[in-house]
Parts: sequence; structure tokens; C-alpha cells
Amino acid sequence: MSLPVAHVHDPVANPFNGTDLSPEQVREVEAEILELKREKDAVILAHNYQLPEIQGLADVVGDSLQLAIEAQKVPQSTIVFCGVHFMAESAKVLNPAKTVLLPNLSAGCSLADSISAESLEDWKERYPGYAVVTYVNSTAEVKALSDICCTSANAASVVRSLPEKKILFTPDRNLGAWVKSKVPEKEVVVYDGACPIHDVLRSASVEKVHGERPGAIVIAHPECRADVLELADEVCSTTGMTAAVARHPGAKTFIVATEHGILTGLKKRYPDKEFVVADGCLGCRMHCPYMKMIDLVMVRDALRRGKHAIEVPPDVAAGARRALERMIAVPRDA
Ligand code: 13P
Repeated sequence: MSLPVAHVHDPVANPFNGTDLSPEQVREVEAEILELKREKDAVILAHNYQLPEIQGLADVVGDSLQLAIEAQKVPQSTIVFCGVHFMAESAKVLNPAKTVLLPNLSAGCSLADSISAESLEDWKERYPGYAVVTYVNSTAEVKALSDICCTSANAASVVRSLPEKKILFTPDRNLGAWVKSKVPEKEVVVYDGACPIHDVLRSASVEKVHGERPGAIVIAHPECRADVLELADEVCSTTGMTAAVARHPGAKTFIVATEHGILTGLKKRYPDKEFVVADGCLGCRMHCPYMKMIDLVMVRDALRRGKHAIEVPPDVAAGARRALERMIAVPRDA
């Protein structure tokens, strides 16, 4: 059965940019952004899933851990964060004196929405004495109730680094299960949240795509389900995927089990390799609408009007900062 046309997209030809600018207008907006960046002493940080034109313009493109670390290092007084809300919020928490702008406030995260402060309080009551490890895809309120944060790049090392044997891992059940398998010496209880973009993928789809490309290397994000991770040659964060490709110099084709925006950076870095999204439909299933909500015009308007400035109440920020700083002290594993 073929998919309805509206459901099929080529992430390169049709990157959901939401604007209809001519190439000349694109150049004008880009020039304006560069000028405004100088004028406002601003830097642009972008996640690996952002639209190609945003990645092309950003000063730093990276995964959650890299961007959190970079947010602390940049000398500029304003950070324009091209990612989703929790990422901009983390940048603000780590840099309270800086202005952090999220060009589109609607850019949320379904995984972060799967745990609220009340829900975490409830789980903590059910598991007294457990150290709480919270994935950064969560609100500042939830981070503030946690002992330490982690990202997909350091989750196993974070859990290993703790003196406690009993761990409550929140909110991603797939990343939690993967960490549990990597750190068997700990007793890990896993919360029941998931990223719907990764959670939809099944091993049968990956096997089909692989069957059509014998010899291809499978690289998966640890937010994928265990049946998918079992098939993967490499399991790593979005930035870790770039290094993973280099570990297979003889391979021509890579099947990537994560949001299709990752292809922008991988194709740029390795123009001679072939990259295919593991859903087998050019990222039609592995498409995060939130990650495509920021376009060039929004970045320009964010800089022009100082919108939307992220604020976090000081008591919440203090707790979240403690959990994030503890995390940053742990080296990355992927
Ligand atoms: P990374 O930290 O690996 O970039 O992952 C972020 C994310 O939200 C994945 O869905």
C-alpha cells in the first residue's frame, strides 16, 4: 500500500520550513540575522534535528549535552536557542545572567510532557531512598526534584557515578531500560514515559530497510525500543552518531534510527556515504514537528524584538542547576 502523498516527504527537498521565501529573500534574512547578532551580542545554538537552514546559520550545532556545555562557554550576552523549550530552559538555568531566547514558544517536547512535578513526587514516594536520575528532556521543575540529570550521551556514566545502588530513572522508559542493561550492578526502576517519535519504530521496519541494503550499518538513538536497539551496531546520542560513522570506514550505507533532521549534519560531514532513516519512508514517521517549528524569519524576529525570553523562578532554577551541573561533571559515553 502506498502512503497518501501528504504523508510522504523528503526532508531535504521539503524541510517543513513553514515559510515561502525566494532564494534572494533567504539571503536577505540571513544577512539581517548576522547583522543583528553583532548588534545584540548574540550567539545561535541549534540542535541536530533543526531545519537545514537553521543548522547552516548556527554558531554551534549539537546534541543536548554539547549544547548545555556550550551555553556555559559562549561569551555573548544573548543565546538564541534553536531547539525545544526544555533545552532553552536548561541554557537559562545554567546562565542566569544571560538572555536566552526561544524563537517559537510552541516548540515543546512530548517526552518532557510525560512527567510533571506531581507525577515525579508520586514516584519518589513509591520508591523512597532511590537516587533520582532525570533525562534532560524534562522541565526545570522536574529537574529541581531530581538528584542529577543525564543526556543520551552520558546516561550510563551518570548512573555508574552515583554512590547509591537504587536508582529511579525518569522519564524515558527506553533510555532507562538501555541504561539498566549497561549498568547491571545497580537496581534501576524506570518511569513510564517515552518519546513518541522514537517509540513508534519497530524492529520489523528496521529489518525491512536493512534487507534492502545488505551490509548497511544500523545506528540507533537510545530513545528507541529495546527490539530496535538489539539490531543496532551502534547506540549513541545524536552527536555520537557522527563519530559512530567514522568507526565504520568500509561501510557505504548507514541506517539511522532517530529523527530525520540528523541527516542534515551527517550528509554534510560524510558526502560520500548514504544515510537512510530507519522508518523506511524518508522520516515520515520519525519526524518531530516541535523540532521544525523555528524558521529563519522567527530567528530574525527573535533577535529584533528579544522574544521569547525564557525565565525560570529562582528557587526552581537553583535546584535544576544543581542537577545539571552534577551531570556536566560526568564525562560523555556516546
Ligand atoms: P540528543 O541529546 O542525543 O541530541 O537527543 C535529544 C533528543 O531530544 C532526542 O530525541
